[in-house]
Parts: sequence; structure tokens; C-alpha cells
Amino acid sequence: MDIKYFDHAASSWPKPPEVIEAMTRNLSESGANPGRGSHAMAVKASRVLFETRRNAAKLFGVRNPNDISFALNTTAALNLAILGFVREGAHVISTAVEHNSVRRPLEYLKRTRNVSVTYVSADIRGRVKVADVEAAIRPNTELVVVNHSSNLLGTVQPVPEIGAMCRRHGVRLLVDAAQSAGILPIDVDAMGIDMLAFPGHKGLLGPQGTGGLYIHPDLELEPLMHGGTGSQSEALEQPKVRPDRYEAGTPNTVGIAGLNEGIKYVLSKSVESIHAHEWALSQRLMEGLVRLPGVQLLGPEIGELKTGIVAFNIEGADSSEISFVLDQSFGIAVRAGYHCTPLAHEAIGTLANGAVRASVGYATTTEDVDYFIEAIKEIVEGYLK
Ligand code: ALA
Repeated sequence: MDIKYFDHAASSWPKPPEVIEAMTRNLSESGANPGRGSHAMAVKASRVLFETRRNAAKLFGVRNPNDISFALNTTAALNLAILGFVREGAHVISTAVEHNSVRRPLEYLKRTRNVSVTYVSADIRGRVKVADVEAAIRPNTELVVVNHSSNLLGTVQPVPEIGAMCRRHGVRLLVDAAQSAGILPIDVDAMGIDMLAFPGHKGLLGPQGTGGLYIHPDLELEPLMHGGTGSQSEALEQPKVRPDRYEAGTPNTVGIAGLNEGIKYVLSKSVESIHAHEWALSQRLMEGLVRLPGVQLLGPEIGELKTGIVAFNIEGADSSEISFVLDQSFGIAVRAGYHCTPLAHEAIGTLANGAVRASVGYATTTEDVDYFIEAIKEIVEGYLK
């Protein structure tokens, strides 16, 4: 049975062939260590990092590519941003629709640095209001952390408005772009973003084990990792120079070579056209599902701005059971349960059962979507009767 892949929000698949070719080529032709040594192969490896940083900067409107540090994934980038920035006794504002990769580091700081956190509520569609974020600001608020788009619902948050508001109050803004990098347009300056955490393996179409953090040039973070950088080897402290300061140890050059091709693919197609494709497919999916008896759609309504995520439940059925039947009987891959975001499930009232999350990607077709709708129809009419 062919796999119909509807789990792009977890990891995009398949990858463009250029991504796989670049990784294979990197391993077979230039597998040396970047930034350490000056022989030809080491220089070639450094060039891979240089080019990828430059392309990522182009995608996110970052002026100096060295303000982007590579990381293992969005979680690692968020940890560097949160643990590296928030000081003892500070106040942080976040939202009720965040992933555990935001919530857990914040909860950790509550326990260890006497940090207080306000989680601003979201409406039933997962939307956060700028006025609510503003109302939560206190004299000691240092940071606002918000997702660009919800990993459960695909809801798009008003990041430019939150950014402008944060600037007026002198509060820094960290954006979790796990579900939006390569899928929604991002311009860090225009959107007032001070730190942007992004994955390489989702909308940027690179391999797992890649991602990064943009850090505004006037922000200084405490590095989480200390060690060799190939620069200022005589110094006892981590170098101040970026990106070395935040990239101790040998990087995932093979993965970054793949990420470079993924970003180039996104740049060549344009984020706008990728989003238009995913939005149209998600609308088709929602329109097909909403007609089926017992199916309850979650998140933004039909016609509203969102990413390619469609979350739903079927009356009387457990979300994991639906996912199991889709996989076993129809070859359809989705994610069910809590999606590492119990906060969001609490906000929309699905904490008891979780939800089924179907997520389309750049390679999903209308035929795939129609097959999905037909599978749910059969489940509703057959399996659940
Ligand atoms: N955070 C990813 C997801 O939402 C893995 O599935």
C-alpha cells in the first residue's frame, strides 16, 4: 500500500531530490570538519554552512547571516533563546496555545530562577489577542514568547501586531516558527521579531536534526553549550563572535547541506505559492470532512487564514483509534493525541480525547486529499457503526 503522508507538521516528507543528493554528495565528497583546519575539504565544508546561513537569512529578512545560529531543532533553538535570555526574577508572557518546547523551559525557569509566567488565553479557534498580551505586561516583563502558527490548529497569530506592541513597551519578542518557516512569509525586522526559532525538517524541507535561531544583533544570550568553535582557541571563555558563540562543537554539516537545498527549493517556489497550495488543499479537506456526520473540525473556520493543518474529531471515537485505522487500513499517516500541546487542547476543550491532526505539505495533491476524505467517510459509515 502506498503511503499517503499527512504528517507534514511533524516532519515534511518526501524531501526534494536535491536535498538527498546534496547530503549524499557531502558525505562522499567533502565530509571534513567546517571551521577547523584550512585544507580544501575543510574550506568546502565551511562554505556549506556559509551558504545555508545566507539563504536562511534571505528567507527571513535577516541582514547579517551570522545572526543565525544553527541548532539541532526548534526545541534546541527555543531552549537557547529562553534559558539564555531570561534572568532571575523576570516576568515572561506566553500563550495558552504553545508547544511543550516553549512551556517546559518556561516552567523550568519558574522552578529554578524565580521567573513568573503569564499564559494569555486563546479563543476556541486558537487565536490570541494583542490587547490581552499587552494587558499582561508588568514592569519586570522581559520577554513575550508566541508561536507564529499553532501546531495543533494551524491558526496564525498576529505576530506583526504583537511585535509592534512589544517594541512600544521595550519588551523582547521570541517567535516559535516551527509551523511557519517556509510556509508563511517571515521578515524579522518588519514583524518586530527579536528571536526566531525555526526547524529545518518541516517547511524548509531539510532533514531532521537541523534548525536554527535568529538573534537580534543587539541581544546578548548566555550560551547553553560551551566548547570548541575552531576560533579563539586560546580563550577560556566562549568567543563573543557570532555564530561561533552559540555553535560549540562539530555541526551537522551533512544535514545542513540538505537544509540548504530545502531552503533553495522554498526560495525558488516562493513561500507565498507554497502557502497558497497548502491553504487550498486544507480548505478542500475541511469542506470534505465537514459534510460527514459526526465530524467536528477544530481551529480556524473554512475561508480563514491558516497553515496546512486540519485538526478534527469524530463523535464517539478516540483520536488514536482513528489514526490507527487510517494507518492500518488506508495507508494514511496522521498524528493523533495531544501533539505535545496539552495547553492548546485545554484552551479548545479537547483535553479528554486529543484530536486527529492531518497536515498537508508542498507535495500533497488534490487526489491525496480526496482519498483522505473518502477514508474518513468509510470510517464514519463502516468502522464506527
Ligand atoms: N512538534 C511537532 C508536531 O507538532 C513534532 O508534531
